Amino acid sequence: MKAVILAGGTGTRLRPLTLPTNKHLLPLYDKPVIHHAIEKLVGAGVYKIMVVTSPHHIDSFVKLLGSGQDFKRPDGKQVQIVYGIQNEPNGIAFGLHIAKDYVDDDNCVLWLGDNIIEDDIAPHIRGFKGGATVFLQKVKDPERFGVASIKNGKVVGIQEKPKKPTSNLAVIGVYVFDNTVFKKMVGKKKSSRGEYEITDVNNEYVKEGTLRAVMLKKKWFDIGTIDSLHEASMHMRKKSKHKK
Ligand code: DAU
Repeated sequence: MKAVILAGGTGTRLRPLTLPTNKHLLPLYDKPVIHHAIEKLVGAGVYKIMVVTSPHHIDSFVKLLGSGQDFKRPDGKQVQIVYGIQNEPNGIAFGLHIAKDYVDDDNCVLWLGDNIIEDDIAPHIRGFKGGATVFLQKVKDPERFGVASIKNGKVVGIQEKPKKPTSNLAVIGVYVFDNTVFKKMVGKKKSSRGEYEITDVNNEYVKEGTLRAVMLKKKWFDIGTIDSLHEASMHMRKKSKHKK
């Protein structure tokens, strides 16, 4: 299993904080935001990670993460971090496609770098048997997310930011895909917001009957706004050993 962390985008809702930098480099209490995804992946036994970001910020990521030398595996070896460049923020599916040759014939976890989760996803990565696994959480404002439509306890479709959501179940920004994910992107068009949507790819797995959905039980933050970044930082502080 390899992993692709998307850390591009424009971070417009976090301006002016994101004028000189990238949102995944901002502090989440005592660490940069991107450390969260890396630590979760390493904890789940995923040691080969590609960070995809924009050409404007790639040098800062290299300064921060290098080749992964600060992240250790249980066997003492080094985690491997490599980089991909996304020239335009033209969608999450496009960002993942940049990692196609890196993922090669392996399966992969796609982690949207601004998603912070508390649940342990290691069992779902270790026990992955093909198809796609997505994670759901109940939210008050489903229109801001990918939303799962459920029939007889099964996901029958996902809508991206629907005006009239059919459920309150958001699809969070961590996905486990088998290697067919890259074929499923072929021929997809940009959405009305001008992006290649990961939701369109997930719906291919729904059609095929191979999408598995897991409900998250603990906290989830999408730190795309100042308030959610602050809330997530406060949550980390509460749990931190540094807290006085
Ligand atoms: O947070 C979960 C939601 O993330 C899902 O429910 C949605 O289905 C999914 O489309 C996504 O929606 P957002 O509108 O919140 O995505 P956003 O544009 O904020 O980008 C998510 C992350 O991906 C963020 O860390 C930036 C990165 N990104 C995004 C785009 C569009 C890239 O690296 N490249 C891109 O082109």
